[in-house]
Amino acid sequence: MKIATIGTGYVGLVSGVCFSDFGHEVICVDKDADKIARLERGEVPIFEPGLEDLMSRNIEAGRLSFTRDLEGALAGAQAVFIAVGTPTRRGDGHADLSYVMAAAEEIARAAPQGVVVVTKSTVPVGTNRRVAEVIRRANPELDFDVASNPEFLREGAAIDDFMRPDRVVVGVENERAAGIMADIYKPLFLRDFPIVTTDLESAEMIKYAANAFLATKITFINEVAALCEKVGADVKEVAKGIGLDGRIGNKFLHAGPGYGGSCFPKDTKALARIGQEHASPMQIVETVIKVNEETKRRMIDKLLDLCGGSFNGKTVAVLGVTFKPNTDDMRDAPSLTLVPALVGGGAKVRVCDPQGRHEGEALLPGVAWCDDAYAAADSADLLVILTEWNEFRGLDLGRVAGAMAQPRMADLRNVYSDADAREAGLEAYIGVGRQVPKEAITVPILGADRERHKSISEGQQ
Ligand SMILES: NC(=O)c1ccc[n+]([C@@H]2O[C@H](COP(=O)([O-])OP(=O)(O)OC[C@H]3O[C@@H](n4cnc5c(N)ncnc54)[C@H](O)[C@@H]3O)[C@@H](O)[C@H]2O)c1
Repeated sequence: MKIATIGTGYVGLVSGVCFSDFGHEVICVDKDADKIARLERGEVPIFEPGLEDLMSRNIEAGRLSFTRDLEGALAGAQAVFIAVGTPTRRGDGHADLSYVMAAAEEIARAAPQGVVVVTKSTVPVGTNRRVAEVIRRANPELDFDVASNPEFLREGAAIDDFMRPDRVVVGVENERAAGIMADIYKPLFLRDFPIVTTDLESAEMIKYAANAFLATKITFINEVAALCEKVGADVKEVAKGIGLDGRIGNKFLHAGPGYGGSCFPKDTKALARIGQEHASPMQIVETVIKVNEETKRRMIDKLLDLCGGSFNGKTVAVLGVTFKPNTDDMRDAPSLTLVPALVGGGAKVRVCDPQGRHEGEALLPGVAWCDDAYAAADSADLLVILTEWNEFRGLDLGRVAGAMAQPRMADLRNVYSDADAREAGLEAYIGVGRQVPKEAITVPILGADRERHKSISEGQQ
């Protein structure tokens, strides 16, 4: 089959590469000239483990190419996938569909007869029908179908998620489109991966409901973590104890600094907005959004506790700024709330991230970038573990403690334990959702400073 994909971001590029690996002929289109030039040179513009090898293999096999020329890419294509961004629209929380609708108009002008226009971007219920209307209006002669095919890959494990998915969701209106989608995903059909074929609206809803559920699960354990700190329980033990219940499951039960990333924040906001527009409020999701913001702010309070109530003049080392490990994606990362609060509070901030510097330099002004954790920790008053990259999981804590001016650690991913920290000579250690030993807080907390930092972080949302 010949397939075109529009948008070569995390989803469009991974999908295009994987479809070519299924044996299809794939042309990936993007408006970004620099991105296309890099892809044509065989460079992968994002950090995604395994992507470069798979991409070069399929380019060499002659099945995969890149272009800015949509018209050429569409010639002879049986399917075109829209994989452009759907960020939060400024002001109202709704998904911004301008990129999707622009792509639909462009497709209408150049698509061959019989094409299936597949929306892979995460879009509100009703968008596929709007895409069909836009195409019909722009080119009434075109014979085409639309299909909804939301994507569930996780950055950092995207290839594996695409090649071995928990399920593929396909929303269609007729047998013709269902047949083409079945041909595209045949390698997965043959290996018995579940394919959920449904109507357009249900497919669109499945994606938002899935992301909102996962965001809820994370937020639930984060709220439990806050209570654990008050009552003297350990959230790691609690998560283990509830996660072993097959009805609950142990995934997405790791307490931390609040969810971030390119999907959960914008998709929860969009779903809340859809609910409001249909007079069917998504009250749980609305609360999740609010609690997640509070969780991020609670992390700032933790750091203040360890700094004696003020960041002013302190040197703080932050390990990890991407929203999770194994990606270079900084979109809505907790670091974008926490680091500006530190800088705004007068701290000298050093950061270190295996892949985040390229994106992070522009997003985190006023910080010094370090090559490794030990350089960041040198003479620092506080070390913060914010993203649990593997290289931060196996730190020589004794070396870290020895290098610091004030050996204190805020472990916002619960990588280490209070016992590890004490053994290594750290004088104070705070995790998330674990009882804070009384002696960990060495200096009284100043209420006025805490309020000031609260308003700094709120300004950044
Ligand atoms: N990133 C993820 O982990 C993930 C996972 C599942 C679903 N999604 C969804 O997939 C969609 C894409 O996300 P992403 O993270 O890949 O986005 P992205 O921002 O990384 O990439 C989007 C790309 O589309 C290009 N583009 C925009 N308009 C175009 C046009 N008219 N013609 C050609 N190119 C165009 C941009 O230049 C950009 O390269 C979003 O709706 C997102 O919610 C993302």
